Amino acid sequence: MDKTFFITTPIYYINARPHIGHAYTTIASDVLARYYRMIGKNVFFLTGTDEHGQKVENSAQKNSMPPKVFADMIVKEYKDLWKVLDISYDAFIRTTDEIHEKTVRKIVEILYEKGDIYKGKYKGLYCIACESYVLETDLEDKGKEICPDCHRELKAVEEDSYFFKLSKYQNRLLEFFERNKEFLSPSFRSKEMINIIKNGLIDLCITRNTVEWGIKNPIDEKQTIYVWFDALINYISAIGFLDFYEKKNDNFLKIWPADIHFVGKEIYKFHTIIWPSILMALGLELPKKVFGHGWWVFAGEKMSKSKGNVIDPYDIINVFGKDALRYFLLREVPFGIDGDFSMDSLIDRYNSELANEIGNLFSRVLKMLEKYSNGIILECKIEPNILSEKSKEVIKEYKKSMEKVDFYNAISSIVDLVKISNKYIEDMAPWKLAKIYPDKIKSVLYNLVATMRIIAMLLQPIMPEKAGQMLKLLGISGKEKDFVWENMPFNASIGKIEVLFPRYEKK
Ligand code: MSP
Repeated sequence: MDKTFFITTPIYYINARPHIGHAYTTIASDVLARYYRMIGKNVFFLTGTDEHGQKVENSAQKNSMPPKVFADMIVKEYKDLWKVLDISYDAFIRTTDEIHEKTVRKIVEILYEKGDIYKGKYKGLYCIACESYVLETDLEDKGKEICPDCHRELKAVEEDSYFFKLSKYQNRLLEFFERNKEFLSPSFRSKEMINIIKNGLIDLCITRNTVEWGIKNPIDEKQTIYVWFDALINYISAIGFLDFYEKKNDNFLKIWPADIHFVGKEIYKFHTIIWPSILMALGLELPKKVFGHGWWVFAGEKMSKSKGNVIDPYDIINVFGKDALRYFLLREVPFGIDGDFSMDSLIDRYNSELANEIGNLFSRVLKMLEKYSNGIILECKIEPNILSEKSKEVIKEYKKSMEKVDFYNAISSIVDLVKISNKYIEDMAPWKLAKIYPDKIKSVLYNLVATMRIIAMLLQPIMPEKAGQMLKLLGISGKEKDFVWENMPFNASIGKIEVLFPRYEKK
């Protein structure tokens, strides 16, 4: 049997409620998971939450709650949102799950015994908010101890710590990058990583003395494990690494290595330098791909709670529906680059493509079917035509794009097919045919309906609920997967006509 296609999202910090940025990574992962399931692959889709560390401890304190109780509350918000957005994950890992904690501790022990983790002293600057040590060389203004990422003040620390020998894997990592040009996408991001590796990797401090809320270091129980070292391991703790290591249960190998780790552009460094090195140290295969997507900003600025410009997914879902949100996020901007979020562009995209093109195609054709053939797809001779030809091209283009994780292009190709179908209606003018060639109208309507079945099918991963509704409107139930234009059955009887995407009038 084929290896299971393994897709992951990052695990989300639970110091605040999920916003549109978190939804973005998860929706993208879900679309790819649904696509691969649709073409018949076994898929394992993992998501979860990153629950340890100072930031979470602080947020819990502010809310006067123990960290775990606080975590449970935010995790529920994530799970609720994923349910509303139809996220079809197969497993949800929390870093507070017992299996995860055990796995992290085991891995620290394994690497300590191997000599890849060793005891040393850390002296330097630390950013509490980012939970990261900052090198003097990384300071933006050499005289000022300010975090280069979040611009908060840094703290000077000196402490006994344990280090992971990242430097040992530098050359192997470089070779890996050079041999696997597709490892990090979009490819323009690879150069930066290669430069970082070439400049020299220093060993990574993986323990914290001052952070209480975390997994205890099995070698020195007074310390906790650095959140990033803890978090990255979720990708294997969730799929049975411990059982594989301790009991030789090889279910793990049916899923690992990951086929794609979806991450935002600010965290691919962790996924393409630290994570592969940990895997090499464990003797495991490396992920096939890490995709670093762009960011959604608001009026050119990073969304943040303090600026009050965070977009709440529910504000959009409640007005436009979940599928419109899924569609918009992947349609508006190519996946690798940043996008500026605005209500105007959402409304324009919704009205022009969902209401005017897709919605309109369905309502026009269904109304004609009611009028000219009693709502039945009548038998007729099936002959190649512009719509059958174009459908075949689009199916090819769509598959190629999905496999390149190019959602933007995949959706564009569907929209092209919709536009050509609408134009076909104008060109054929069935209302005229009805009077002169009543027989010809059967084929024209068949050609349209067969194409609309393909359109709905291609939309299934992107807008699962609406696509299901489209198929029902065409009188076919179930999940269509065949991608054969001619397979639209005769005698299907269309469903009750509904408006798929009511036009939104700007207030
Ligand atoms: N906990 C870490 C990931 C550990 S993975 C082993 C983390 N969590 S996060 O909650 O801060 O972010 C998770 C994801 O949300 C990232 O992929 C990030 O890029 C994405 N987004 C958060 N805000 C975003 C936008 N404004 N726009 C697009 N995505 C962004 O990092």
